[in-house]
Amino acid sequence: MERALEMMLLVAIVLAATTLVALGMDIKDKDLASEDSLRALYERWCEHYRVARDLDDKTRRFNVFKENAHMIHKFNQGDAPYKLSLNLFGDMTDEEVHRAYGHCSNIKSDGRKHRQQGRFTDDAINARKGLPSSVDWRRRPSAVTKVKLQGVHCGSCWAFAATAAVEGINSIRTRNLTSLSTQQLVDCDKGNGGCKGGFAKLAFKYI
Ligand SMILES: *[C@@H]1O[C@H](CO)[C@@H](O)[C@H](O)[C@H]1NC(C)=O
Repeated sequence: MERALEMMLLVAIVLAATTLVALGMDIKDKDLASEDSLRALYERWCEHYRVARDLDDKTRRFNVFKENAHMIHKFNQGDAPYKLSLNLFGDMTDEEVHRAYGHCSNIKSDGRKHRQQGRFTDDAINARKGLPSSVDWRRRPSAVTKVKLQGVHCGSCWAFAATAAVEGINSIRTRNLTSLSTQQLVDCDKGNGGCKGGFAKLAFKYI
């Protein structure tokens, strides 16, 4: 019962987060004009992402936020083929984001480290011959679903990699782009280690 509730909450958080990820906040010149306008932008951002920081933390975080806002604004003056906007990580440092969300461990469920194979086989090298140097999988019909957010402090990258690959091949073969559940892999694929880590390859076996 508790577990079901926990799952529902997680699903709700993931859903809320995916919506929020998609709707970044744009930064205008006037937002950066003064300390006051930056503070107003930070307050709007806190409200938008329903972020509550305590008073001490908020001073430090406002400084991080300002740096991020300036970085985004400066980047957007360039001619990159895409623009940046403020997302839910707006008042976190790169290091904090990495520590909280960047978990991708190779620990097996029995606690031992997996040894990764670093070299490609001849078959794998030959299979790459004659392929285009890049493919935009978002082109219609898209083979990629919306951005998903890995949970905080959960080494579940393997589950996201596996669902993305299956979503892709399913879309390419059937023209039906359906988002699949990483939560199911994390909870139910006993060949992998849940939040402790795993491999997409093993998840394919489960699927
Ligand atoms: C796509 O696949 C899902 C899952 O099998 C199914 O529920 C849905 O109806 C399909 N959509 C279309 C347009 O065929």
